[in-house]
Amino acid sequence: MYLKTLICLMLAMSANFSQADAGLAKSKNCYACHAVDKTVMGPAFKDVAAKYAGNKEAASLLAGKIRNGGEGFWGSIPMPPNAQVSDAQALKLASWILATK
Ligand code: HEC
Repeated sequence: MYLKTLICLMLAMSANFSQADAGLAKSKNCYACHAVDKTVMGPAFKDVAAKYAGNKEAASLLAGKIRNGGEGFWGSIPMPPNAQVSDAQALKLASWILATK
């Protein structure tokens, strides 16, 4: 009984965690060009997660790209820098993106 409650609690907490980061992506306007599961102007976040799967440097690499922008990795459209995102937020977003499937 106790264990069941604990598992429910953990599930609820992890759901909250990812929802918070999805909210961060929304508030930072990422969804203007991205979606989790389809290509908009930028790549689908789950495609990004698949591309960098197994890359240990991925979170910090992507955090840098989120802040400074990037181009040429997914197509000819560049991503402009997102200066409104702090380093900590960029890292949080990168980890969240890498966990999307
Ligand atoms: C104006 C449109 C636009 C906005 C706003 C935008 N992106 Fe992008 N993003 C792009 C495009 C276009 C690319 C592909 C760039 C390339 O080909 O290298 C991209 C690529 C990426 C990548 C993959 C980088 C790589 O080199 O593999 C990540 C991660 C990413 N964006 C996250 C974000 C996050 C998080 C936000 C919000 C803070 C955001 N983007 C806001 C257009 C945008």
